Amino acid sequence: MKSEENISQFLNNETVIEISHLKKSFNGNEVLKDISMVVKKSENVVVLGMSGIGKSVLIKCIVRLINPDEGSLKVFGKEVTLMNSNELNELRTKVGFIFQGNALYDSMTIRENLEFPLRRNKNITDPHDIEELIVDALENVGLLDTIDKMPSELSGGMKKRIGLARTLILKPEIILYDEPTTGLDPITSREISNLIVEIQTKYKASSIIITHDLNCAKITSNRMMILQDGIFIAEGTFDELKNSDDKWVSSYFKID
Ligand SMILES: Nc1ncnc2c1ncn2[C@@H]1O[C@H](COP(=O)(O)OP(=O)(O)O)[C@@H](O)[C@H]1O
Ligand SMILES: [Mg+2]
Repeated sequence: MKSEENISQFLNNETVIEISHLKKSFNGNEVLKDISMVVKKSENVVVLGMSGIGKSVLIKCIVRLINPDEGSLKVFGKEVTLMNSNELNELRTKVGFIFQGNALYDSMTIRENLEFPLRRNKNITDPHDIEELIVDALENVGLLDTIDKMPSELSGGMKKRIGLARTLILKPEIILYDEPTTGLDPITSREISNLIVEIQTKYKASSIIITHDLNCAKITSNRMMILQDGIFIAEGTFDELKNSDDKWVSSYFKID
């Protein structure tokens, strides 16, 4: 399955994320200088960029894990930079964040790992409801049989899937993926990339996917943006950017 096939779903559709002239510095180090981007409903936007360039900082700003210095950042039309803590909590139930590490709780079973966000973020406490949601989330990532296992019993790829299930259980409308395939072998990377497209199709979720895995970018992206020196230097489909005449842009597509 290829993400471009469902491109029609979001054409002419609503904007879910709108970032304008966002800036962020750390101690004089201007990481984000002037960032503007939009993400449409049900669209997958891949952000490519070298290590240390500010990709993680960008998506952390979207859920205010980092406070930007200047600029506007709207999610579902609401200005995130002005949100109070209640509004931020609500935002974070709608915007799922897949961190670069798996961040599963090693001392909890898979069931307990999935139960945690339900109790904390959604205040769901009925045991039958909880069980149903956990089973559904695990079925979505093809890992129902791991429900009573510990994270240490799972492979890296399985842990990634559980990390995804733990985010999906909250039924987010937006998912921010920070390097979802880093550290995985090529076959597992492809499985995770395909799963990202399945999630897009099934939930009509919108996503920003940070990656430097070109196969993942090709499979998952409807549109791509390249971050360099604090700004986006290029935007287009995978094929448009791959065939770009610009030497900086095309340099990202050289096999490494
Ligand atoms: N909380 C922070 N405090 C200070 N500097 C930070 C912080 N978070 C990120 N940075 C710096 O911002 C730059 C971009 O980091 P990051 O967004 O993690 O890069 P990447 O593109 O690899 O995800 C790096 O120079 C990093 O050291
Ligand atoms: Mg990063």
